[in-house]
Amino acid sequence: MTEKKEKSGDELSRRDFLANTAMTLGVVASLGTSAYYGIRYLVPAKKEAKFTDVLVGTVSELPVNGAKEFIDNQGKKAILVNNGKEIKAFSKICTHLGCEVEWQAEKKHFFCPCHEGFFDANGKNIAGPPPRPLNEYKVTVKDDNIFVALKEV
Ligand code: FES
Repeated sequence: MTEKKEKSGDELSRRDFLANTAMTLGVVASLGTSAYYGIRYLVPAKKEAKFTDVLVGTVSELPVNGAKEFIDNQGKKAILVNNGKEIKAFSKICTHLGCEVEWQAEKKHFFCPCHEGFFDANGKNIAGPPPRPLNEYKVTVKDDNIFVALKEV
C-alpha cells in the first residue's frame, strides 16, 4: 500500500514536471512570437521601390528647347524638355515652397514666379531661394517614343 502511494506520488510529480515544462515552453514561444511581430510592426521591412516605364510623349513632338507637360501617376504635374542634347523629365513642383515652375524656352531655364526661383535646363537650382534641383524622372527613348520611369504606388 505504501509502495503504491509512493509510485502515485512519483507519477504526480512527473506530471507536474511535464506540465510545468510544457507551460514554460508555451510561454516562451508566445513571448517570442509577440516580440517578433512587435519588432516587425515597429520596424517594417524595407520595400524595394518598383518603377514602370510609362509612355508620355514622342521625340517628334519635342523640338530643341521644346517642352511637353504630363501628369505623373501620383497626379502631379511634370514636364519633358528637349535641351538640345537629350530629353529630360522633371517635376514641375518648385523645391522651395511647392509652386509650379514654368519652362521658358527662349531663356532655356525654368522659372518659379512665387519667389523668383530659377533652374537651368538640367533642373539645377541656379538662382533665388530654391534649395535643391527639381526632382527628375528617368527617361528612356525607344525609337520615337519617350518613356518615363514612374514609381509604382
Ligand atoms: S516656391 Fe518657388 S521660389 Fe519659392
